[in-house]
Amino acid sequence: MVKAEGPLTTTIDAETWQALHQAAVSAMGRAYAPYSRFPVGAAALVDDGRVITGCNVENSAYGVALCAECGVISELVNGGGGRLVAFACVNARGEAIVPCGRCRQLLSEHGGAALQLAMPQGIMTMDEVLPGAFGPADLDKIKENQ
Ligand code: THU
Repeated sequence: MVKAEGPLTTTIDAETWQALHQAAVSAMGRAYAPYSRFPVGAAALVDDGRVITGCNVENSAYGVALCAECGVISELVNGGGGRLVAFACVNARGEAIVPCGRCRQLLSEHGGAALQLAMPQGIMTMDEVLPGAFGPADLDKIKENQ
């Protein structure tokens, strides 16, 4: 299913992208989005082969809505952790959508620069989607100066 080519790149085959897309569509069907009426489903492949999913969960206090990606990251961490290697999210039509800025940051923390994302324009890496991302290494830099 997943073929490692080196420390940073992994080939995700078409069948795996299709499975991720399907998992995202299923999750989208469980979204709670009565306010925006914009259900979102997200799915990610973890480096141990797990496929994890999330859906957006809105709230009558609009500002506290949880994006679908929040559910993915919660499932990742609560399921024992791991690194994200591939990610997809979809709208109500099952079309690929772009993760919002905040969720790019969430995904970056747990997938790093090599995470591959199914964007509307095709497969992109996290490094392309969030160039120059802030990350754990930036916290370490200040420790070195102390
Ligand atoms: N939404 C997500 O779930 N993920 C994104 O990356 C973009 C936006 C949700 C939040 C809100 O419930 C709805 O889409 C409309 O913004």
